[in-house]
Amino acid sequence: MNILGIETSCDETAAAVVRDGREVLSNVVHTQVALHGPYGGVVPEIASRSHVAVLPDAIEQAVSTSGLAWNDIDAVAATYGPGLSSSLLVGLTAGKSLALRLGKPFIGINHTEGHIYGTFLGPGAPRIEATCPFIALVVSGGHTCLARVEALGRYVMLGQTIDDAAGEAFDKGANLLRLGFPGGPAIEKASLGGRTDHVSFPRGRQKKADKLPLEGLDPDLCFSFSGLKTSLLHYVRNHPEPRDPSDTASIAASYQEAIVDALVERCALAIRGERFLTAGGGVSLNKRLREKLAELARSRGVTFLPAEPRYCADNAAMIAGLAGAGMGVRGPGAMALDISPSLGLGSDR
Ligand code: KG4
Ligand code: ZN
Repeated sequence: MNILGIETSCDETAAAVVRDGREVLSNVVHTQVALHGPYGGVVPEIASRSHVAVLPDAIEQAVSTSGLAWNDIDAVAATYGPGLSSSLLVGLTAGKSLALRLGKPFIGINHTEGHIYGTFLGPGAPRIEATCPFIALVVSGGHTCLARVEALGRYVMLGQTIDDAAGEAFDKGANLLRLGFPGGPAIEKASLGGRTDHVSFPRGRQKKADKLPLEGLDPDLCFSFSGLKTSLLHYVRNHPEPRDPSDTASIAASYQEAIVDALVERCALAIRGERFLTAGGGVSLNKRLREKLAELARSRGVTFLPAEPRYCADNAAMIAGLAGAGMGVRGPGAMALDISPSLGLGSDR
C-alpha cells in the first residue's frame, strides 16, 4: 500500500510517499522559517499563502522522487488537525481534490498522533505493536503532551500544557534574548559552553485539578511555561544589554535547562511500569533534552525511542505512515471531513 501524505498544519509544507506504513520512499519538506523570521513567530496569513504557492511542487516532487508513478499511489492522506485553520485548509483541500482526481481513497490524519508515529518510521525503526504500551512525549511549537499509548489508536492522555507549548517557550525566550527564530535551535546553539545554573528559572507550577484543560489529567503531569517566560523577561529587564557573550550563553543554558527539566520530570512521573518512552515533535531534536531523557530511561530500565531527527519536526512521512498503518478517518466520512484546529489525541474515533 503506497500512501501519499500531505502536511500543512503550521509553517512546513510537506509531502511524502510511504509504503506499508514504514518504508519512506520520499520525504519533501519546505520550511517557511525565512518568511516568519522577521516577525519572530509564525504569521498564519503568510503561512497559508505560502502553502498554496509551494504545495503543488512539493507533491510533484514527493511522487517523482519516490520512484513510483501516479498510478502506484493507493490513497492520499492529509492532516486535518490540530493546527492553524487556514494552513490546515490548504493541505486538507489539496488532499481531497487529489484523491478525487486519482479515484483513490482519502484519509484524514491527526497531527499529534503523527508525531507519536514518527518513532516508528524508517528501516531500523521499532515495531509499534512490539512497543505498546509505552509513554509518548510530544513536544513541538504548537503542542506539548504526555500520553500512554496502549495500542495504535488507543491513547490515554496523561498531561498537557496549560499555557505555552515547549517550542513556544523556546521561541519566546529566543525573542527576549534576541537570538532569532526559530528559538529552539537558536537557544541550543547560544547555550553551548554556558552554565546551566547561572539563573534559577522556575520548572513550571503545579496546577489544581479543576484548572486543567481536560478532565482526568493529572496535575503533576501537566506543564506550564508562561511563568518561565515571565521570569526570563524580568531577568532581561534587570540585566540590560550590552551583555558579555559568556553571560548570554549561561542565560540561554539556564533557560534551556528549565524547559528540559520540566519535561523530564513529568516523564519520570509518567513512567509506571512501561518499558518504552518515545519522543517526537520539533523540540525533541534538542540534544540536552535527548541526553536527559536517555539518562532517565537508563535509570528506570526503560528503552528511550526518540524519532529519527528527520521525522521529529513537521513532516508528511509521519502522516502517510500513520495512514498506512490503518489509522485516520477513512471511508465515506473522510471526504466530508472538515479541519479541526484543536483536535485532541484519539478524539477522531
Ligand atoms: O514539530 P514542529 O516542527 O512544529 C509544530 O508542530 O509546532 O516544532 C517546531 C518547534 C519550534 O518551536 C522550534 O523552536 C522547536 O520546535 N525546535 C527546537 C529545536 N528545533 C526545533 N526546540 C529546541 N531545540 C531544538 N533543537
Ligand atoms: Zn507538529
